[in-house]
Amino acid sequence: MEKTIDENKQGQSLVLEQKKDNKRKLFIESYGCAMNFSDSEIVASIMANQGFNTTQNLEEADLVLVNTCSIRDKAEQTVRKRLEKYNAVKRDLNPKMKVGVLGCMAERLKTKFLEEEKIVDLVVGPDAYKDLPNLIAEVDQGREAINVILSKDETYGDISPVRLNTNGVTAFVSITRGCDNMCTFCVVPFTRGRERSRDPQSIIKEVNDLWDKGYKEITLLGQNVDSYLWYGGGLKKDFEKANDMQKATAVNFSGLLELCAKSQPKMRIRFSTSNPQDLTLDVIKTMAKFDNICNHIHLPVQSGSDKILKAMNRLHTRKEYMKLIDNIREIIPNCSISQDMIVGFPTETETDFKDTVSLMDYVKYNFGYMFTYSERPGTMAGRNMEDDVPEEIKKRRLQDIVDLQRAHSEIKTKEWLHKTVEVLIEKESKKSNTQWSGRTPQNIVCVFPKAHYNVGDFVNVKVTDCTSATLIGEAIPLVQ
Ligand code: SAH
Ligand code: F3S
Repeated sequence: MEKTIDENKQGQSLVLEQKKDNKRKLFIESYGCAMNFSDSEIVASIMANQGFNTTQNLEEADLVLVNTCSIRDKAEQTVRKRLEKYNAVKRDLNPKMKVGVLGCMAERLKTKFLEEEKIVDLVVGPDAYKDLPNLIAEVDQGREAINVILSKDETYGDISPVRLNTNGVTAFVSITRGCDNMCTFCVVPFTRGRERSRDPQSIIKEVNDLWDKGYKEITLLGQNVDSYLWYGGGLKKDFEKANDMQKATAVNFSGLLELCAKSQPKMRIRFSTSNPQDLTLDVIKTMAKFDNICNHIHLPVQSGSDKILKAMNRLHTRKEYMKLIDNIREIIPNCSISQDMIVGFPTETETDFKDTVSLMDYVKYNFGYMFTYSERPGTMAGRNMEDDVPEEIKKRRLQDIVDLQRAHSEIKTKEWLHKTVEVLIEKESKKSNTQWSGRTPQNIVCVFPKAHYNVGDFVNVKVTDCTSATLIGEAIPLVQ
């Protein structure tokens, strides 16, 4: 089965701490990547200062904001269906309701949204959330409002996000926005603009605040975290124009990781997503140096065929990727590695597909997210390449690699049998209210009897059994 980070979290509506004097009601829900969920927390923070408390009840909402995803056609269709639902609620139950669209679809479709979807009053792109107070004022006066301007320097570094639907243990911290990579299949560079990095001081401040509030794990977020570069502000692509002083004091991703690891030595640190062409040996060595940086790398490759990698504008070869995997395994032997794969990219032959299969056999990923190619309007592939792999072939190839990944996951998960792993407890297990569920540093889910432990505890667990995706074990009491 196709499984994505997106779909795990699809359509979560969010509730935040209520401010006493706030009178209006906001229903906010998010689709897509972790960055969208993180952005919704920034939006919630801005809206709380505009007199809005959140609600989970559409029927009483004064304002509905939906944070949207454009990555595949299916993601956009899901949002269109939600708009139909809002329409029905507005027509039958809640005529005062206003609807705003945020995120990548807002940026991609711009004013077309207002024309195509009569229900929509407000369209706001990912860099324009600070303009929400003005835009809401327009809507209040009965006008439609739109801001889809992409920014050179907006990182929302000065806004303290309101943590939504939080478990109080794990949190996302954005470190870069946008992407300069221009993979030919990908809409993100068009919807999220050019790449820029956030001031390390504001990142460290957020990490410290999270620790003070009891959080135990953070995930540093960006479309391409390894490309992080702070030289005093500005776009990554303008770094060449920086002065000598700025260049000498610049902070790259391994530098940032080290700063985070040192400022909170007990906080678990994760990051996502890595791009093979930018993941340096320095980063891998920094991971090895600090115990609190988790040994897991999400390293999407998309295809194992050199021909397809080139057509995708992925700036590395199959061989270079394999060398990178070898380096990770040598420097951090117990590091888990996960993938994203696309099957059925234009011109992909059976031979190309077999290269993907053999690459997966070589790496034996711990887990992965696999997709059939979805043509996106405006991208290089969308404009210049015919979507020529028939749907049945795409589906068959997807099923083949999903099955292969499950077999690999099983092999990798079994390697932990009878070993002791450190688990950070996040929540009750979905399958049993007598078990806790948490993750190991390798990002593998582990369940075990609750005993006297609590959410937020680090527990050593002896693994006694497993499925392909989950470790099952018993907590080992600490010897005093
Ligand atoms: N660097 C980003 C990638 C975002 S897109 C990150 O932070 O994860 C997530 C995944 O969606 C990609 O790695 C790719 O496997 C998949 N994807 C992107 N565009 C796609 C398309 N047009 N069709 C199918 N899958 C796509
Ligand atoms: Fe998309 Fe490639 Fe950037 S997948 S987000 S263009 S690294």
